[in-house]
Amino acid sequence: MASKQEWAARLEKHGQGHLLRHWDGLDADGRDALAREIDCIDFDRLATLVAELVKGEGGTTAEADLDRIRPIDVARMPRTDAERADRRRAADAGEEALAAGEVGVVLVAGGSGTRLGFDGPKGTFPIGPVSSASLFQIHAEKLVALGRRHGKQPPLYVMTSHENHDATVRFFADHDRFGLDHVRFFVQGRMPAVDRATGAILLSGPGRIAMSPDGHGGTLAALAARGGDGRAPSCLDEMRELGARTLFYFQVDNPMVDVADPTFIGLHRRGEAELSLKVVEKRSPDEKVGVVVELDGRPRVVEYSDLPRALAEARDHDGQLTYWAGSIAIHVLERSFVERLVGVHLLPFHRAVKKVPFLDASGRLVEPAEPNAVKFEQFIFDALPEARSHVVVETDRRVEFEPLKNARGPDSPDTVRQSMSDLFGSWLEQAGAVVPRRPDGSVPFAIEISPLYARDAHELKAKIEPGTVIEGPIHLR
Ligand code: UD1
Repeated sequence: MASKQEWAARLEKHGQGHLLRHWDGLDADGRDALAREIDCIDFDRLATLVAELVKGEGGTTAEADLDRIRPIDVARMPRTDAERADRRRAADAGEEALAAGEVGVVLVAGGSGTRLGFDGPKGTFPIGPVSSASLFQIHAEKLVALGRRHGKQPPLYVMTSHENHDATVRFFADHDRFGLDHVRFFVQGRMPAVDRATGAILLSGPGRIAMSPDGHGGTLAALAARGGDGRAPSCLDEMRELGARTLFYFQVDNPMVDVADPTFIGLHRRGEAELSLKVVEKRSPDEKVGVVVELDGRPRVVEYSDLPRALAEARDHDGQLTYWAGSIAIHVLERSFVERLVGVHLLPFHRAVKKVPFLDASGRLVEPAEPNAVKFEQFIFDALPEARSHVVVETDRRVEFEPLKNARGPDSPDTVRQSMSDLFGSWLEQAGAVVPRRPDGSVPFAIEISPLYARDAHELKAKIEPGTVIEGPIHLR
């Protein structure tokens, strides 16, 4: 290992010499661990990011000229019989791909879930309205159900972070992997957090750098990285080996997601797309979803925090939001697209101003009351302009989107459980059951249907006696 002097020379060149401030007090293991962390940092790239995103005012390194954005073409919800038949044909194509084992599933679960205030990986949060099943269980059982339907269960790849990896792996092991045939966990990369005033890297302990996950854009590099300390094949290699060429990507926080939705896969393939997105109509100008737009003829997602108010509020002559297409972060990607980008195209970094506890010059741990730090994150949807072709598909939020983000208010356990119960209530009604409704259309008690019981309204129909009256909380499993 290099000596303190050698590390110091390297760090001082980048104005980060303070990282060794507590070196002398560390034992050999502590020094080794710190040196390994320092060694992982690309200081030249960090210097560029600090210049652009900390000392400059840029939102991203590739800030779009938002004056030139336009609404994007979207495959809207089918409204006629012909359109419904067309979607059915797309679903058939997607089902063929699933039955042929050509689909892999990527679940991103590396975020820290600070807004939810839950201690543990977000995927372990008990969300089932009756059963308290975890997000992970609900997602996994959808895959198990899909496997039963199509004869092949798509392999699942779960992206974790350094912070939650062990707890996530343990959770799946404790639950016998929820019946999954093939699940692999891969850890995303990290970036150091820096002081928002000076750009100095923060220490979280005498021998520890304040590192945080590099955003879900880190999925691409992490899928390409070899596993098992460099001895195992990468996830991409493994997918190639398994014949999985189309990847369904989704976020851990939305229990309503139609995992590996055949219609979406079929529309993506029919459009010969490399990257496709699902959108819903935004509820209001200030709903916290990214919007899918076109910029200079290329598709883009503009994150809600980057969309100027005037554009968010712009309306067409019919009163509809001009930029209505809210991304629900459900994508289909071709594996070959990921392979083409990795190592060649670097996604831009965005800055996130956050509260990060840090060690001050005297060695005291400070819990800041105000955001003191900048974290750097890549977003997967920044790969969109690189796609040779894309498809944007509208879906119904009542059926597919209610994410768990906050402890209370919108996007909280209460709203998520209610939306799940409302959806399951409508499945029961479609199957001929009678379900009470409040004046606002919501169901008045918890309803839950395990994916292993029925994967959708159609499957449920075969199991429910028409005219059945639902009188109170019910869990079908
Ligand atoms: C995200 C999208 C937004 C979209 C919305 C839909 C971003 C930047 N924005 O917003 O466009 O409309 O979801 O719900 O993503 N994650 C990781 N590693 C990370 C960071 C995040 O795996 O380093 C995962 C999280 O576990 C989570 C997901 O990515 O599953 C979303 O992250 P979050 O920070 O909650 O994004 P939002 O701001 O809610």
